[in-house]
Amino acid sequence: MRLGTFLIFVTIVVTAAALSVIPPRKDKADTDTLELVQIMWRHGDRTPIVQYPNDPLQNETLWFPYATGFEAITKKGKQMHYDFGQYLRKRYEGFLSPVYSQKEIYVQSSDADRAIMSAMSNMAGMWPPTPEDPRSEWNPQLQWQPIPIHTIPKKLDNFINFGAPCPRFKELKKEYTNDSPFAKSINEAPENSKLCQYIIKHAGVKECDFEVISDIWDTLRIQKAYNMTLPPWVASVYDQMESLSAIFFDSRVLVPTEEAKRVKAGPLLSFLVKNMELRQNETKGVAKMYALSGHDTTSSIALGALGVFDTQFPSYASAAIFEMHKIQNEHVVKVFFRNDTSVPPFEFEIPNCGYPCHLNKFKEILAHILVDGEKWNEVCKSGGSSPSASKSSASGAISTTVLPHFTSHFIMLITNLLLISKW
Ligand SMILES: *[C@@H]1O[C@H](CO)[C@@H](O)[C@H](O)[C@H]1NC(C)=O
Ligand SMILES: *[C@@H]1O[C@H](CO)[C@@H](O)[C@H](O)[C@H]1NC(C)=O
Ligand SMILES: *[C@@H]1O[C@H](CO)[C@@H](O)[C@H](O)[C@H]1NC(C)=O
Ligand SMILES: *[C@@H]1O[C@H](CO)[C@@H](O)[C@H](O)[C@H]1NC(C)=O
Repeated sequence: MRLGTFLIFVTIVVTAAALSVIPPRKDKADTDTLELVQIMWRHGDRTPIVQYPNDPLQNETLWFPYATGFEAITKKGKQMHYDFGQYLRKRYEGFLSPVYSQKEIYVQSSDADRAIMSAMSNMAGMWPPTPEDPRSEWNPQLQWQPIPIHTIPKKLDNFINFGAPCPRFKELKKEYTNDSPFAKSINEAPENSKLCQYIIKHAGVKECDFEVISDIWDTLRIQKAYNMTLPPWVASVYDQMESLSAIFFDSRVLVPTEEAKRVKAGPLLSFLVKNMELRQNETKGVAKMYALSGHDTTSSIALGALGVFDTQFPSYASAAIFEMHKIQNEHVVKVFFRNDTSVPPFEFEIPNCGYPCHLNKFKEILAHILVDGEKWNEVCKSGGSSPSASKSSASGAISTTVLPHFTSHFIMLITNLLLISKW
């Protein structure tokens, strides 16, 4: 065998092996090697946020059987997070002590009520008082103890709800949502401009674009899930609105350029990496678990920046879980996504990091994205200010920039096969 053939052969074997290195999925974490857990979840089931002008279901009292009103977590949503808290208790049994301790866990929520209430419901499930332990029980009638949920105002929050002003991101978002060639082709597609005329007429809105469609569709989706009768005009366009909303969502989170990733995901990834380093350095006062209570964008932006977000709407109470393990003296990062309560979390192989993904390599592949504090304010300036900031537009590459890891392996494999067949 010639050396070239041999190398190609080796690549194929390695590639094929890489497809199957991820261990079988399970609910219990490997607590023997675990050092740190960082989790970001979406709030639970909620009521509609937007009432469009002609919405026949605008009366807030319609929601009182389920929630306290609009924009609120529902009873079902509270239950989702309570259950999730119970799940986390079991998953991390042996890593976290059975009794709540402020030294072990730190919870930060976005400043949205539904996220704060989700975090509270989750903690209620995770840390019920333990009667046999004098530290936790305080009212024998109540299977609950207060657990602190920290938050900061939305306009300062650049890593959970992304409300902190960032002019550069606005520009980038415009480029790759409404202005990108990809979006234009969609906006200008005859069937979509017809849809817009139709929505303006029936929903009573003044203008129509991705965001408007997505906002109205979100309200319709929830009303439908609660078996409310939608107005007759909806039936013929519901599916079309859904797929445009999905494209809009993908374009918000699948930040297509490296600059957009830095601007959008930099602070969140920096938060995660910094805690890993602090833990690795055995710094005093570092918690064993950090929980971020947020929105659909929180986990998908983190996963999207790593290239493992699979472009679906993250379901209510779904969560990205970043675990740091110490295996044979090496720090390793494991990334999971729990989007389906009926199966154990999905584990990802992080593109360009390999499996297991060593912390040093993880930091290396993210180095150009990590940014926080004052530096973040710099990269957020209009026009971009970082020397490596690429100003090239998304050029319609939304759907191709973030190949799922298995796809890239698959492409490698195919490429190798083609090479072989040429030989
Ligand atoms: C909303 O519904 C409640 C209960 O049916 C009713 O009393 C109230 O008048 C309605 N409000 C409006 C603005 O229609
Ligand atoms: C809506 O109807 C379906 C089918 O009858 C039912 O399974 C579901 O529980 C209902 N949802 C609510 C919120 O009542
Ligand atoms: C961890 O320790 C290394 C080596 O001393 C240091 O360079 C790094 O800044 C520390 N990380 C943090 C977050 O303190
Ligand atoms: C959950 O996420 C995994 C991994 O991204 C994906 O394969 C799966 O289809 C998702 N399931 C649901 C119900 O969204």
